[in-house]
Amino acid sequence: MGNRTSTATEVERVDAKTFVREQIAAIREAVGSETAISALSGGVDSSVVTVLAHKAIGKQLRSIFIDDGLMRKDEPKEVKTAFAKMGIPVKVINAKKQFFAALAGITDPEEKRKAFRDTFYTVFGKAVRDSGAHFLLQGTIAADVIETKKGVKTQHNVLEQIGIDPKSGYGFVMLEPIKTLFKDEVRLVGKAVGLPALFYQRMPFPGPGLATRCLGEVTPRRVAIVRTACNVVEEEVRRLKPFQAFAVLLDDQATGMKKNGRRAFGHIIAVRCVESTNAMTAEATEIPWPILRKIRDRILADIPSVTKVVYDLTAKPPSTIEYI
Ligand code: XMP
Repeated sequence: MGNRTSTATEVERVDAKTFVREQIAAIREAVGSETAISALSGGVDSSVVTVLAHKAIGKQLRSIFIDDGLMRKDEPKEVKTAFAKMGIPVKVINAKKQFFAALAGITDPEEKRKAFRDTFYTVFGKAVRDSGAHFLLQGTIAADVIETKKGVKTQHNVLEQIGIDPKSGYGFVMLEPIKTLFKDEVRLVGKAVGLPALFYQRMPFPGPGLATRCLGEVTPRRVAIVRTACNVVEEEVRRLKPFQAFAVLLDDQATGMKKNGRRAFGHIIAVRCVESTNAMTAEATEIPWPILRKIRDRILADIPSVTKVVYDLTAKPPSTIEYI
């Protein structure tokens, strides 16, 4: 579906309306009279694909949101409500236990990504089979494929490009209508396809969710900590409109002081906020000091186990945006 080779600088040349028309036709042709499942996470990419597919095949589409327990605050409810307003029903599957069981005890970043990916497609594979569908539509974009192939990290949604056959591995045929686009182009297509601005302007959020923001073991308790911290960061930097902003729970402890002056070992939270157009390169945002202080104060107040809050200044490269 679509074999255009795209570069980030091509963004002005993307004719979003033509792209939408072509992809609607391509999805219709690929799915035929079958049904397809859309793997909706509420992020920009999967939201664009879900609306494209809804326009293409209407009632032959089932949109599924997997609640993996690794989402941002209130995400499952908000996504379901927003898509219902667009006339797209979304089924939420609660798979929290499966994901936390798969991630238990894993601290290696690449192992974590693989455990997430395997659980993700096992759950979707079952959903596809249960509904009698053959196709899984997902929002893989160009950067996901490039970085996985380069070996930077295994993006959760890249299978065929690294030699995994979704049909024999998980029981479905994968459709990836926006895999030639970069993030800025996806946003243009989102606008052209009628997605609300709230969605196409959203900050990117990685498929493996808060698992990418918990260094060390991913447990419900550690995810709850990072969820609270991410929410604080997102709320406080919203008016700066950065490309992406979040918090990370590090896998170490730092000395702090209790109210009675005694030593306390506590969690360390790193705040990450970056400017970018396509996620291939990024620079740390120059956050005004009062906003950083507010972030620090809110994190310390809301999460008493935290004894240090730091701001990450590294650019990509040599760093990456996320921490795993
Ligand atoms: P990095 O950390 O590689 O991230 O600089 C680049 C962009 O991709 C997002 N990201 C992911 N998105 N699945 C996704 O859908 C993933 O496994 C994944 N890993 C990173 C990241 O948030 C950033 O916007």
